Amino acid sequence: MKILEDYLNGLDIKIVELKNKEDIDKFKKQFEVPKLKNDYTYQVLIDKDNNYLGGIVYGKYENPIEGFKPDVWIYFLFILPEYRHKGFGKKLLNIPLSKYEHISLGTDKESSEHAIMMYRKIGFKIIKVDGKYKYWFK
Ligand SMILES: CC(C)(COP(=O)(O)OP(=O)(O)OC[C@H]1O[C@@H](n2cnc3c(N)ncnc32)[C@H](O)[C@@H]1OP(=O)(O)O)[C@@H](O)C(=O)NCCC(=O)NCCS
Repeated sequence: MKILEDYLNGLDIKIVELKNKEDIDKFKKQFEVPKLKNDYTYQVLIDKDNNYLGGIVYGKYENPIEGFKPDVWIYFLFILPEYRHKGFGKKLLNIPLSKYEHISLGTDKESSEHAIMMYRKIGFKIIKVDGKYKYWFK
């Protein structure tokens, strides 16, 4: 694990990048995301007892949408309900945002209104709609 940020909001909570298979598999199991590839980037919120409180997963996008070339696709962003509205989601999202020029992600009926508001505020725009699935680009 590589520590990216420590003592978030003065709490004993860190953002770390998961590097080994065991840690990534534990994350995927806890958040029920078995289909995500292990070679994506996994950056997670972790407390002092090594509990995962949320995370972001992003990586290369294999199927570019016509006319758009994202550097990365965000496949997963989630914060446990009791840790929401404290700025952690935005902190996680800011990591790829500060590193890559163009980012895409998808939202569906499972995505919260709060997430959609956050993406709009950051400057993401909808570039394609496929049923309930929306493709966003920034
Ligand atoms: C989306 C999610 C990751 C956001 O995480 P979070 O830590 O609660 O978000 P933050 O506290 O960083 O807030 C980010 C923005 O949301 C908005 N926000 C924050 N608190 C809010 C509140 N109480 N009410 C409404 N909007 C709020 C603000 O726009 C805020 O930006 P600002 O700080 O510039 O005002 C989280 O709500 C979540 O896990 N949702 C369920 C899963 C999901 O929908 N994921 C996205 C899949 S596409």
